[in-house]
Amino acid sequence: MTDHRPTYDWNPRSDTVLDNPVASFDDMRQRCPVARSKYMGWSVFRHEDVLAVVTDHETFSNQVSKHRSVPNGMDQPEHTPYRTLIEPFFTDQRMALFEPECRDIAAELARAIAGRKQVDIVAELAEPFALQIQCAFLGWPDSLQEPLREWAHENHEATLAGDREAMAEIAQRFSRYIHELLETRREQGNWVPEDPTTEIMRSTIDGQPIPEKDIVSILRNWTVGEIGTIAASVGLLLKFLADHPSLQATLREDVDLIPEAVDEILRIHGPLVTNRRKATGPATLQSRQIETGDRVTVNWISANRDEGVFPQPDQFRWGRDQSQNLLYGAGLHVCPGAPLARLELRVLMEALLQISGAFAPTPDKAPVNAYYPASGYQHLWLDFDES
Ligand code: HEM
Repeated sequence: MTDHRPTYDWNPRSDTVLDNPVASFDDMRQRCPVARSKYMGWSVFRHEDVLAVVTDHETFSNQVSKHRSVPNGMDQPEHTPYRTLIEPFFTDQRMALFEPECRDIAAELARAIAGRKQVDIVAELAEPFALQIQCAFLGWPDSLQEPLREWAHENHEATLAGDREAMAEIAQRFSRYIHELLETRREQGNWVPEDPTTEIMRSTIDGQPIPEKDIVSILRNWTVGEIGTIAASVGLLLKFLADHPSLQATLREDVDLIPEAVDEILRIHGPLVTNRRKATGPATLQSRQIETGDRVTVNWISANRDEGVFPQPDQFRWGRDQSQNLLYGAGLHVCPGAPLARLELRVLMEALLQISGAFAPTPDKAPVNAYYPASGYQHLWLDFDES
């Protein structure tokens, strides 16, 4: 059947967009807030439309791929028991128990960079922090950190290329790591460590054990959810504080202000760019006609910079209404890992601001931006004073 709809409105993989994603999204939000592209289907840039899409679970389905993805790729009612299983891992009580270990990891990394110049924050802090926390939280061996780092990078490349075959192969590789890990635990019998991985292995849904492929999928989505977003957040936060020394000094003096500052800095430039949905029926967004089966991509970075909700969005402001901040999403798929993410970022900022001296961008070493689907930086060089 011929598609008579207008040709594409933009190209998300053009050099202009990849090199200047935030400015390009700002431009699209003004000029063409619901825009069609070959690569992403419909992209939704305004806050109200993003919210409308992610909270209308009937019209916009999460089943966007033929591959099963737990819980991201599920709709109700299938999604509900998996969410119910996952949420208890991120309660306040769990976070309080994990905080000391998180603090040790943050302090060690902060001590290693204090007083040094030309530190590539991404390689020396952001990625190691995300990987070490992920392994510590799930009880995984340190030897898995490097394979996970490489895996996350390759996953990113394949997603940008839109290479479905490579993405499937990379997902398979992750599955192999996890199958081996689960196998080792089964062999340990009663000596198996008590941690979230073991707990998930023992969990049931409707009285039935969870199939191995679902356990792997849950763990894969935690890993994908954590590594890229936390590493990107660390880079974005440090760049902002390096560029705004007075805010850096304020937070050093009063660490209780860190949580609000983190949410506001990541509102200005978010670590997660998009998520996908599929239309289950016709819908209208900004007078654009979405047809049944169309792909719909919500752009979180753009939504959080919508001047209708956050006037002068580039400005850091205390006291903004952070309940409108879509950093962790909204609706049924709102980020279950948000308490862990908040803990990680707060604890790392506290450790850095307390252990390291003031930090500033390294002169003559411009940061290298990350490319979609990642956000933030590939390289970010900072100079740290002695504390
Ligand atoms: C700064 C860090 C993070 C940000 C900005 C972030 C953001 C988000 C957003 C916006 C969503 C909603 C996606 C959608 O509606 O399609 C989401 C979902 C999800 N996130 Fe996070 N996330 C972060 C950290 C984490 C962590 C630490 C974990 C787990 C350890 C995690 C696991 C997940 C999972 C499993 C989902 C899917 C939930 C579902 O489909 O019900 N995220 N995240």
